[in-house]
Amino acid sequence: MSSSKPDYRIAPSILSADFARLGDELRSVIAAGADWIHFDVMDNHYVPNLSFGPMICQALKPHAQTADGVAVPIDVHLMVQPVDSLAAAFADAGADFISFHPDASAHVHRSIQAIRSKGCKAGLAFNPASPLDVLDWTIDDIDLVLIMSVNPGFGGQSFIDSALRKIEEVRRRIDASGKDIRLEVDGGIKRDNIARVASAGADTFVAGSAIFGKPDYRAEITSMRDQLAR
Ligand code: DX5
Ligand code: ZN
Repeated sequence: MSSSKPDYRIAPSILSADFARLGDELRSVIAAGADWIHFDVMDNHYVPNLSFGPMICQALKPHAQTADGVAVPIDVHLMVQPVDSLAAAFADAGADFISFHPDASAHVHRSIQAIRSKGCKAGLAFNPASPLDVLDWTIDDIDLVLIMSVNPGFGGQSFIDSALRKIEEVRRRIDASGKDIRLEVDGGIKRDNIARVASAGADTFVAGSAIFGKPDYRAEITSMRDQLAR
């Protein structure tokens, strides 16, 4: 990696927020320094859990901004099958990034185009045991790669170490492409491992329980940034 630090992003996952007060939680975590809001969509089909849909995203969109009115990107992570109809609904609901799992789409390239045609940035998400082969044919068409460092479906799981090798491999592919593509890691990220994950090549960090599970969101996010700055 180059000597200059990447432009890191911290994306708290509202899967671990208090669902009874989601608008407040968004504003609090943005005031605490969140760069993006990560929005985990689960369908009880592709993953064994059910979370929230496009109507919740639409309701939260006005809260996804700083106190000064600067928009904070909504980073939708679709753990759903099929992909295209819900992707379109999230685009209409105000999503900025929409990522999906290629194994959940019958036509990956078409799903990417469908997301981009709505003016959203498109990402591909890879489970811990999923190969990266599809990137051979899609890297020129995507804006983000999301590496799962837990099996999708639940917050609060432990980081799977083999994700580090996968992140290194994706970093090589992104650098070789010469494209502006974010490398996001999702699952088990906390202040104790974020620097190691950044060293492997990630530049965008999802954290759910590590932030929303603590009373002081700002302290947690600041501590993660301190680790990244070292
Ligand atoms: C898991 C989700 C994650 C989850 C991460 O399926 O994709 O975004 O919220 O939660 P933590 O940070 O608690 O591992
Ligand atoms: Zn996620």
